[in-house]
Amino acid sequence: MTHKTVKELFANDIHRRIEEVIKVDQTDEQILKDELAEYVVTDSLRGRFLEILERYNETPNKPHEGVGIWVSGFFGSGKSSFAKYLGLAVEDRTIVDDGAADLFARRTGDPKVEVLLRNIAEHIPTEAVIFDISTDRGIRTGNQTITEIMYRLFLQDLGYARDLDLSELEITLEDHERLGEFRQAYYEVFGKGWDTEKGKVAIAVQQASRVMHTLDPDTYPTADSWRESAHRRADITPGRLAERCKQLMSRRCNGRSLVFVVDEVGQFVARDVQKMLDLQAVVQNLGRVGRGKIWLVVTSQEKLTELVGGLDDKRVELARLMDRFPLQVHLEPADISEVTSKRVLSKNAAAQQYLRDLFSEHRGRLTDTTRLTADIRLPELNTESFVELYPLLPYHIDLRKL
Ligand SMILES: Nc1ncnc2c1ncn2[C@@H]1O[C@H](COP(=O)(O)OP(=O)(O)O)[C@@H](O)[C@H]1O
Ligand SMILES: [Mg+2]
Repeated sequence: MTHKTVKELFANDIHRRIEEVIKVDQTDEQILKDELAEYVVTDSLRGRFLEILERYNETPNKPHEGVGIWVSGFFGSGKSSFAKYLGLAVEDRTIVDDGAADLFARRTGDPKVEVLLRNIAEHIPTEAVIFDISTDRGIRTGNQTITEIMYRLFLQDLGYARDLDLSELEITLEDHERLGEFRQAYYEVFGKGWDTEKGKVAIAVQQASRVMHTLDPDTYPTADSWRESAHRRADITPGRLAERCKQLMSRRCNGRSLVFVVDEVGQFVARDVQKMLDLQAVVQNLGRVGRGKIWLVVTSQEKLTELVGGLDDKRVELARLMDRFPLQVHLEPADISEVTSKRVLSKNAAAQQYLRDLFSEHRGRLTDTTRLTADIRLPELNTESFVELYPLLPYHIDLRKL
């Protein structure tokens, strides 16, 4: 038998870059495409995706308020991946030249998923607002509420200013069909486009104030009037967030459905009753107002029961939180072996044959010299596991999980 080096055995380029963690707010389409191409949908993952997609798909016919999805699992168990690809697939975001729904359905290799996603794209067109709450808190961190963070990112997604006062101004102007006029006046005064400048909040507030004075000198007698009357006044509550989502989705998104995917919510709310109550109020209001058209997918290292159970007080008030997240997905490490073998260790056709032969030639010696006894059951070495996991042995991966 001719010899092969380990690097010749694999199906994929072993020098390719594999990110250790999945960033949910990754917008680079090529990276997204590569990530999706490497996502291994195991049987248990497929089952969970199907359950959620079926529920989402039947919602227009059976409107309900259970719009929360809680995705939990240890660090590295694939929570961010799960939540992100769910969001992208439901939104059917364009990735390079393909729709995410198609790319994802192909990964699952399941015709039911394909049909469901196609149906969703056709009948429940959806916008997904996907972000990581641990990195998207904005500048004034500390006591920002989930409500406020979600609202800012929603506004930004729809093209409004992320600053609440400025977006409030835009929304009010739109109510009176005067936003076009405002943009025009802004351009005449400053020679730049409002939409490109409004992110520089400190300056944009001053500038907007001056433009409001030009447009409406009776109400705003000086260039500072609007700023003085409006700045830092806008406020947002969970109820208002839900109403605004509904109103602005119909205004700017043709009445599409909306899915929030918020990564790392667990860590954000853990051991803070106020934040947990805020989360409860958010999901409750999104359910009540959205009637199945506004969903919330969150991730957490802990299961929801563990999080609520970890609090000393207010558990009664939080009891309803469980009902608000009827779909709970807990990612188990049991899939690691399958994911590792398919994603990292999969072999090319020649190598599969080569390893098969190698195994039958040395079966006895391999089995004897690698035998390990322990109090737990360790997986057996056989032709399949040898080929799939080489150069690792099955128990290497199982021991790694412990
Ligand atoms: N089903 C899977 N198929 C392929 N790779 C996966 C899968 N699940 C997780 N990974 C990989 O494991 C790493 C951690 O995943 P991630 O989604 O960031 O986990 P978490 O958010 O739970 O910490 C990433 O490199 C990711 O690509
Ligand atoms: Mg993560």
